[in-house]
Amino acid sequence: MAAVQSPAHDPAQLRREIDALGPWFHNLHLPGGVQTLPDSFIGGDFPGFKWREIAPHVPQDLSGWRVLDVGCNAGYYSFELARRGAQVTAIDVDAHYLKQARWAAGVLGLDHRIDFHHMGVYEVARLPGTWDLVWFMGVYYHLRYPLLALDLLARRTRRLMMFQTLTMPGEEVHPDTSDRPLDQREAFLAPGWPKMAFVEHSFAGDPSNWWVANHAGCEAMLRAAGLRILGRPAGEIYLCEPDPAPRARDWASDLLVGSALEAVREVAQPQPPR
Ligand SMILES: C[S@@+](CC[C@H](N)C(=O)[O-])C[C@H]1O[C@@H](n2cnc3c(N)ncnc32)[C@H](O)[C@@H]1O
Repeated sequence: MAAVQSPAHDPAQLRREIDALGPWFHNLHLPGGVQTLPDSFIGGDFPGFKWREIAPHVPQDLSGWRVLDVGCNAGYYSFELARRGAQVTAIDVDAHYLKQARWAAGVLGLDHRIDFHHMGVYEVARLPGTWDLVWFMGVYYHLRYPLLALDLLARRTRRLMMFQTLTMPGEEVHPDTSDRPLDQREAFLAPGWPKMAFVEHSFAGDPSNWWVANHAGCEAMLRAAGLRILGRPAGEIYLCEPDPAPRARDWASDLLVGSALEAVREVAQPQPPR
């Protein structure tokens, strides 16, 4: 007997709803073989091809794990992690993508496992508790204040962080980044010195791109945030855990003396006319 398609999963109806919710960035695989963006500009089935590289590095059974998906977009990773048993908090600044994610969670029957919040990464400071797994993929280079976000998320990571950012070409790591005299600055120009290129205008036609780090820079910033790198599941992707003996370098005065909260409030306001 032929399977009866429930009205909610009628492919033609799903297609209409997908079109109404577009444009899409994630290619979600929905019932009946329907996909939201089968031919992504990033390379076909995105982020499916990335997930297939990372998936073996994520515990198969996430029952009892709390997961934070930062910049969840249409929810691809939230859905995969929820399928492994996790309870997911998924946040994004873009209401358009959250609408897609909420809709897809309903279609996939995963809405009971995921709480979606319309919020930016810095607002995680207002949420209580820690997460067993912090999924911080594809957001870092979009942040004007990336280290603030990384420091915050590192403190809220109980077991693992999956981190991905846009990187410069090259894999070099400088063998010695220790202290130097004031007049010895050539080392900063070496390819393996930790670096981030600042994007003043836009990159790849996207003015929301601010910083592009090199590989050594990613490793150094993760360590400086108190994380230990466990592995690199794929290019630009770092699997980390809290370092039991983090580097004790005092940077707190940078935030306290400058009264960081007041500074944040001020720069968040539109510029008054001069
Ligand atoms: C390049 S997409 C990455 C989506 C997904 N994490 C992935 O790796 O496929 C960046 C996502 O981060 C969101 N985003 C950008 N800035 C953010 C911020 N400050 N806080 C939270 N989400 C942000 C965007 O709206 C977008 O959905």
